[in-house]
Amino acid sequence: METKEALRSRRSVKVYDPTREVTDKQLAELFELTTLAPSAWNFQHYQFIAVRSPEQKKKLREAALNQEKVEQASVTLVVCGDLHAYKRADRVAQDFADKGFYGPNGQEKVEKQAKMMAETYQNNPQLARDEAIRSASLAAMSLMIAARDMGLATCPMIGFDADTVRKVVQLPEHLFPVMLVSLGYQGAEPLPRNDRLPLSEVVHIDSFGQPFQSNP
Ligand SMILES: Cc1cc2nc3c(=O)[nH]c(=O)nc-3n(C[C@H](O)[C@H](O)[C@H](O)COP(=O)(O)O)c2cc1C
Repeated sequence: METKEALRSRRSVKVYDPTREVTDKQLAELFELTTLAPSAWNFQHYQFIAVRSPEQKKKLREAALNQEKVEQASVTLVVCGDLHAYKRADRVAQDFADKGFYGPNGQEKVEKQAKMMAETYQNNPQLARDEAIRSASLAAMSLMIAARDMGLATCPMIGFDADTVRKVVQLPEHLFPVMLVSLGYQGAEPLPRNDRLPLSEVVHIDSFGQPFQSNP
C-alpha cells in the first residue's frame, strides 16, 4: 500500500473482531517500523505496554471509560512518555559519534554532548514532559500508519483515567500514559469519516492570518 493510500484510508476503528489475534511476528514488525519515528536527539522518549491478556484488558477497559474496543481488540497499547529518556544520553552521544555526526574527532565530544543533552532535560521538567508527549505521539502516529499498511486497525484514545491505567500496567514513576491505541482486526465498517476543516482554516502562509488558498 502506498503511504498516501494508508493515510487516506486509516480510520479510528471502534469495533474489532474479537476472534482474530495479532501475532508476536506482526507486533515485532509493527514496533520495528514504529521505532523508526523521529525523536528529539533520537532519545526515543517512549515505552509501549502491549496489553493482551483477557484479565489485563478487562482492567484496562474499566480504566478507559469502559470503552469496549479496549477489550475487544486483540491488543491495546499503552503508549507511555518517558521522563528519564535523558539517562540514555551517554549511549545516544556515543552513537552520534560512531555514525560521524560529531565530525572526524567526534569521540572527544561524546562526554560534553551527553552532559549537555542530559542537563537540558534535567533542568527543565516541563520540556522533558513536552518532549515525551511529542515523541510518543509521533511514534503512535507511525504505528497507526504502519498498522494500516499491515491490514490492521487502530484507534487512538485519550478517554482514560491516567492514575488507574498507571496502576493496571504497573508503570514506574518516570513513565506516564500519553494515549492508548487499540490494535486488531476491524469488526465492522466505520461510520463515514467526519469532515476536516478546509485548508484555508488551518494553513497560513508566512504568518498567522494569511490563509493558504489552494487551487486544486
Ligand atoms: C488524542 C486522541 C484521542 C482520542 N480519543 C478517543 C477516545 O478516547 N475514544 C475514541 O473512540 N476515539 C478517540 N479518538 C479518535 C477520534 O475521535 C478520531 O480520530 C476522529 O474522530 C477522526 O476520525 P478518524 O481518525 O477515523 O479520521 C481520539 C483521537 C485522538 C487523536
